[in-house]
Amino acid sequence: MTNSAKKVVVTGAAGNIAYSLLWRLAAGDVYGKDQPIKLTLLEVPEAVKATEGVAMELNDSAFPLVRSIEITDDATSAFDGASMAFLVGAQPRGKGMERSDLLSANGKIFVPQGQAINAGAADDIRVLVVGNPANTNALIAQQSAPDVPAERFTAMMRLDHNRALSQLAEKIGCSTPDIENVVVWGNHSSTQFPDISCATVDGKPVTELVDRSWYLDEFIPRVAKRGGEIIQVRGKSSAASAASAAIDHMRDWVQGTERWITAALPSDGSYGIEKGLVYGQPVVARDGKFELVEGLELTDFQRERIAASVAELQEERAAVADLL
Ligand code: NAD
Ligand code: LMR
Repeated sequence: MTNSAKKVVVTGAAGNIAYSLLWRLAAGDVYGKDQPIKLTLLEVPEAVKATEGVAMELNDSAFPLVRSIEITDDATSAFDGASMAFLVGAQPRGKGMERSDLLSANGKIFVPQGQAINAGAADDIRVLVVGNPANTNALIAQQSAPDVPAERFTAMMRLDHNRALSQLAEKIGCSTPDIENVVVWGNHSSTQFPDISCATVDGKPVTELVDRSWYLDEFIPRVAKRGGEIIQVRGKSSAASAASAAIDHMRDWVQGTERWITAALPSDGSYGIEKGLVYGQPVVARDGKFELVEGLELTDFQRERIAASVAELQEERAAVADLL
């Protein structure tokens, strides 16, 4: 028997990230090869025509799992009955900007989208905010959807996590799946804390495989500033790697994983993170839910680094108080 199709919404569907994301999604990389999907592409009115072109190409790809493709500029109808939402649509930063510089332009996008999710999304709705500044935009969407369980709103820190794995694998000379128990705490910004305190390769602590000076002076800033480095070198913000990380995040959320991954979730107050802030934390995924890795003993160094993103997210929240 065939499963009934799930409605999946992608916002910013005419943009760069969506142009990679939609093909992975349509191929079944999130729900698996037995789950048909109905795609809804939400864009601003000026980009509807370009979105029609994207839909034409999706059709031309003849994906067996795609039951329908709907294009709209209306958030209420887009999210009605949705089981999954990738909130990608937002301006990207250019050279020399911080992601928080986007807050005044992008923050307001997430109020009507959160309200529309509140009004009509399916009971199993899962939301991933990709548009920057992702953590605070996710907070805005979540606060605009008071009837939806808060933990259904997440922000993307998986790209930071994947960047950390790849930098470590290159340094150590191993493959990324060999590395376990890495996390990137915090904000998707330069205050984030890529943390190798618990990381292992074949059971060996990573802290014994790399120099502390490399860890502090090269690895942490490299991972934290990788988005800016991509913009410098590529001339545009990351797109295919962001799409790939979004797929990883949603796939693991739906299908589960016992490996540590990083997801930005509303904090439950653990680890000195103010309750409610959408904060990158170590999780596994079981029974369709992210579960925080509990019981870690933090050093003073870890606590200080974690506190830096808490303070920054509190400032971002204050800057959008009128939207909350
Ligand atoms: P892009 O400019 O190529 O595409 C953005 C699209 O969003 C445009 O087509 C635009 O019309 C659309 N859009 C704007 N407002 C919208 C709205 N209210 N509803 C629906 N669509 C809307 O940008 P991109 O490269 O695809 O990046 C999108 C966002 O993702 C940016 O904010 C970027 O900074 C962010 N990003 C986040 C991460 C992360 O790790 N969290 C990684 C990469 C990029
Ligand atoms: C990234 O990390 O690549 C994205 O958030 C884009 C950016 O502005 O850095």
